Amino acid sequence: MKEPQPPGKGPSLGWQWKAIIPIVGVLLLGLIAFQAIVVALDIPSGHWIVIVAAGGAVAICFVTLIVMLVLIQRPLEELKRVIGRVSEGDLAARVDFAKRNDDVGQLGQQFNEMIRQLEENRAEIERLHQREMARAEHLATIGELAAGLAHEIRNPLAGIAGVVEVMGRELPPESSSRAVLPEVHSEIQHIQAILNDLLVYARPRPPEFHPADLNATVEQAVFLARQQVRTKPIEITLEPEKRLPGILHDPVQVQQVILNLLLNGIQAISNQGKIEVALRQEREYAVVRIRDNGKGISRESLPRIFKPFFTTRKEGTGLGLPLARGIVESHKGRIEVTSEPGRGTQFEVWLPILRAKDKHAE
Ligand SMILES: Nc1ncnc2c1ncn2[C@@H]1O[C@H](COP(=O)(O)OP(=O)(O)OP(=O)(O)O)[C@@H](O)[C@H]1O
Ligand SMILES: [Mg+2]
Repeated sequence: MKEPQPPGKGPSLGWQWKAIIPIVGVLLLGLIAFQAIVVALDIPSGHWIVIVAAGGAVAICFVTLIVMLVLIQRPLEELKRVIGRVSEGDLAARVDFAKRNDDVGQLGQQFNEMIRQLEENRAEIERLHQREMARAEHLATIGELAAGLAHEIRNPLAGIAGVVEVMGRELPPESSSRAVLPEVHSEIQHIQAILNDLLVYARPRPPEFHPADLNATVEQAVFLARQQVRTKPIEITLEPEKRLPGILHDPVQVQQVILNLLLNGIQAISNQGKIEVALRQEREYAVVRIRDNGKGISRESLPRIFKPFFTTRKEGTGLGLPLARGIVESHKGRIEVTSEPGRGTQFEVWLPILRAKDKHAE
């Protein structure tokens, strides 16, 4: 059986031939008909008339061909050449026939304009890319610096904490300084927590994937969050998805993500409220939804909440969400957020359902 020809690969006939063959055909048919009439009517010196008519037909063909070459073939060739240069990256190339004062010239002008815009867009993209690279390098340096600093501060801080503890023990019971010791102790703990977060954020450890039950991971985070609100009128409900398969994930890290989101929810509820946690499967993703009826996030804050150190809380560090996003992204997932100021906030953690065999296949 004959193989079908791929498009554009068959023998092709130039457009000139496609245009000229019908003209030649019509002229030839005319000549033959004319010759037949001359013979039928036996017109005197009719063959001379036929010869002159044939000469005229040849001249018409010739002139048509020349006109086509000048009007169409040359610009077409030039267009092909310039497209070739453009596709190789030379965006300074332009077609000359744009100077012509006819339809083909207009086409050339539009083509040149298109290339000019392409050139402009590429310059803009390159400029943005350069800026982003510079910013990324800058951030990486600052991150390294911050991590180094955090590391350096941790040890002396542990020393100070030890000294404060000893002082506490040695202070006479009636000393008024005793009253401030718990405060000092809690402030030191706060600084230690910030330094730890900063170090984890600046030097995240890669996830250790295990095939585990995501319901159990989330449940553990909910359990820890419930401990935090034992004395408050905040209810945390959990709706697991029993049909979820075992998913490859780092349970410790994912638990930290869910706990960070739950703590944010708790902190957003000023007095009494509810946080609903629900799991579901959607196509190739397991989704954990955390919805609170707290104070919500303002329109101005919403685009900034994942930026390191963005916080609206007095005791906040602004590292909870960037940390969570980093972990979820290292699981090739994403976090989505919607919020209605005054009514509440909903976070969704989308994790791809990776099974053990998928991991081996990577
Ligand atoms: N559920 C929520 N409801 C209302 N606002 C929220 C919620 N989650 C996050 N936010 C807003 O996003 C900001 C950043 O959150 P993020 O967890 O990164 O930092 P933080 O909670 O302020 O500090 P920490 O480092 O202790 O977590 C919060 O300060 C708050 O303004
Ligand atoms: Mg937080």
